[in-house]
Amino acid sequence: MDKHPSSQDSPKASPPRSGQGSRAGTREKRGAQDRRQANSRKPSYNKAAKAGAERPRRDNGWNLGPGAQSRLIIARAIQTIWGQGVSIEDALEKQNGFHELSTRDRAFVRNVTAVTFRRWGQITYILKQYLKKQPPTFIMAILRSAAAQSLFLKMPDHAVVGESVDAMKAVDSARGFVGMANAVLRRITETGASHIGAVPPHNNVPGWLLKQWEKDYGRMEARRIARQVVEIPPLDISVKKDINTSELAQDIEAEPVYAQTLRRPHAGNITKLKGFSEGDWWVQDLASSLPVHLLHEHLGSFDGQHIFDLCAAPGGKTLQLADLGAKVTAVDKSEFRLHRLKKNLERCQLNANIITADVLNLPNDLGQADHILLDAPCTATGTFRRHPEVLYNRKPKDQAALIKLQKRLLKAASMALKPGGTLTYCTCSLQKAEGEDQITAFLKERSDFRLNRILTKSLLDIDSDIILDGILRTRPSFRSDLGGMDGFFTAILEKTG
Ligand SMILES: C[S@@+](CC[C@H](N)C(=O)[O-])C[C@H]1O[C@@H](n2cnc3c(N)ncnc32)[C@H](O)[C@@H]1O
Repeated sequence: MDKHPSSQDSPKASPPRSGQGSRAGTREKRGAQDRRQANSRKPSYNKAAKAGAERPRRDNGWNLGPGAQSRLIIARAIQTIWGQGVSIEDALEKQNGFHELSTRDRAFVRNVTAVTFRRWGQITYILKQYLKKQPPTFIMAILRSAAAQSLFLKMPDHAVVGESVDAMKAVDSARGFVGMANAVLRRITETGASHIGAVPPHNNVPGWLLKQWEKDYGRMEARRIARQVVEIPPLDISVKKDINTSELAQDIEAEPVYAQTLRRPHAGNITKLKGFSEGDWWVQDLASSLPVHLLHEHLGSFDGQHIFDLCAAPGGKTLQLADLGAKVTAVDKSEFRLHRLKKNLERCQLNANIITADVLNLPNDLGQADHILLDAPCTATGTFRRHPEVLYNRKPKDQAALIKLQKRLLKAASMALKPGGTLTYCTCSLQKAEGEDQITAFLKERSDFRLNRILTKSLLDIDSDIILDGILRTRPSFRSDLGGMDGFFTAILEKTG
């Protein structure tokens, strides 16, 4: 399984209907009124509008239909993701009314939210062409998501404008901006597409990250990586070792990619695919499956080996370790995420000892492991294909704090390892500061550890740059012709003393 629940987006998702019959005529009238309003007075950027919390208006008996309700949820989720650094899925879970939407409408909401983040830089540029002054964040979120629907998801303009404006009318602090938003959105639906060409897709990556990728990989490669932000990734699954991968591949219309990984062009409803309820496989990006394959290849076998999977949840690597025969102790400090790990172990009929604990403060009676896998918390920028919000919900100060935490976690892990054992350090960040640089600094300080050079030749078929100087580094630009892969870093260290 991947780091977060699947939020795959598809340009084909259809917008929810308002559920109130045809409202085109009403909307036309409303649109004319709003345009008149927009022309007759400037939008009021008053204090209340800036500070006010958004509250759905239900006092006059006017309820939102599912179309407007969906737009309201999308805009609030965008605000939450941006302001609180959470994932799309977690932000949506927090929104009132999200669970009351139909399955189809929830898929629509996920899709629009993801595409708004995939196209953030392009949308920002286009909105600038129509806005004299930037309105408050909720209004910007409405405008951004409406632009995503109209320009990139090609949804019917009347629905996009009408439902977005209706959503605003339900929010006290937004009502003063309705006229302006209506006018801006109409202009965007009419002429916004003409600006798309002016902003290449690498502008969808924030400058501070693009700069680091340029320093780490060069300007051209950084742009190749950034271009993948707008591509819809395939679905990768890891198949249990006793399951016949070729047969399963045929059954679920997938292609074998590497080792136990199968790839389907689109996710669809994964729970309906053959083998899901039987626990024959779990969702896991190809790149994310490589650290365990590398360790397995390096050790030859996991039989009789006690492996600590530190920072284990939601558990893709725990499942792999257990499936390949290791005795696994999975540690994570998040009870909520460990619950998902437990559910997946049960579904796949695999076993691990699960411990809720801070790796920085491991229980004394845990003892030392034969081998350790540390999948450290990181900026997760390597997962932007499925989670485009990672590019915007983390800021430079968050990266600095994570780098400090990774250092401390490496130290804690090194103490929980028996001499002669291996410590596999991995992250799903694209920045070398969280991968290569961490290992260089660690080895400088620790003469009791050395780098075990990864030498797997079979991996070179995937991409010739995948292993450099004995270290694994994948990038979303690798094999983009076949659907690409997440960005991942892995080094295997040996404790000599
Ligand atoms: C990158 S994710 C792990 C992904 C997981 N290994 C997988 O393959 O599914 C990082 C995990 O680290 C956990 N974490 C962060 N800081 C921690 C700490 N100090 N102690 C234990 N777990 C921690 C988070 O709760 C999160 O589940």
